[in-house]
Amino acid sequence: MNRKPNIAVVGATGVVGTTFLKVLEERDFPFENIYLMASSRSAGKKVTFKGKEYTVEELTEHSFDKPIDIALFSAGGGTSAKFAPIAAEHGVIVVDNSSQWRMDEDVPLVVPEVNPQDIEWNHGIIANPNCSTIQAMVALKPLQDVYGIKRVVYSTYQAVSGSGMKGINDLKNGLAGNDEDLQAYAHPIAGNCLPHIDVFLPNGYTKEEMKMINETHKILGDDSIKVTATTVRVPVFDSHSESINVELEKPFEIEDIVELFKKSPGIIVQDDVENNVYPLARDAAGTDEVYIGRIRRDFSVDNGINIWVVADNIRKGAATNAIQIAEKLLEILPD
Ligand code: A2P
Repeated sequence: MNRKPNIAVVGATGVVGTTFLKVLEERDFPFENIYLMASSRSAGKKVTFKGKEYTVEELTEHSFDKPIDIALFSAGGGTSAKFAPIAAEHGVIVVDNSSQWRMDEDVPLVVPEVNPQDIEWNHGIIANPNCSTIQAMVALKPLQDVYGIKRVVYSTYQAVSGSGMKGINDLKNGLAGNDEDLQAYAHPIAGNCLPHIDVFLPNGYTKEEMKMINETHKILGDDSIKVTATTVRVPVFDSHSESINVELEKPFEIEDIVELFKKSPGIIVQDDVENNVYPLARDAAGTDEVYIGRIRRDFSVDNGINIWVVADNIRKGAATNAIQIAEKLLEILPD
């Protein structure tokens, strides 16, 4: 696209929405007009973006009557279910951060470092994967390409910002000694680990765990990879940490895997245990990379490896990934 696009941010007042604006500004994303949309609760609210004041408008069926090229959605699954198709019918390409469309066969599910080619076959909606899945994909793709992947075991340690303002409020209130009036969780999060993210399903897994399993298959394009997951909410404000155990198809040397990660896009290796260097949630917060450390052999199986993977769940796990998709769109969209 040679001209500057018109863009919309849906859910502009939320945790991910405000980070969309921050990342758009940082990356100097080109635009002619930008429209900020949220619920009726926020209509009329003023937001400063790139030194200019914008008024938040209520998202309605008519929001996409005006010419908009790309809309970044992060306003919950129900909002995406209703409004993403309306936007797409108006010729808008929606990059949707909710889980609503991710497993739809007509919707590409994209991590730009992993499967950018899938952007091309979009029919108006492109899904941003689950935050925990995105950072795992950045780590697993180079392993898949070089060694093949047989089985993956995810154990996650996820920040409260993944639950939006409500999750942040529950941790803030809990740290201040108030464990009443919980907004996001079934139990106090301060001083706790909750093995419960999203709702429980009849198979005993949480929806978050099944998202990681199903999205891994779709993004890596291989349903034969065996995947299991336990996802846990921890009292951390920003950045998800993950222990990932991987059984590879082929034998490997640990040094080669370290080198492979070092040269792979979007990854920073932090692995110097003698000096207590390994990825940390607080260091990853506010950055766009995926950090990998504790790279070591799993001696309990053939060709097994353990890694510790950390990334900012609101940036790489949501806003930045969506904006990277939008940047790729600019390369392929006609004027
Ligand atoms: P609002 O601030 O007006 O409620 P969070 O990160 O806190 O979960 O934010 C969710 C975002 O989604 C907010 O911007 C919120 O707007 C927006 N949102 C929630 N429900 C709707 C809706 N029905 N229509 C449009 N935007 C919505």
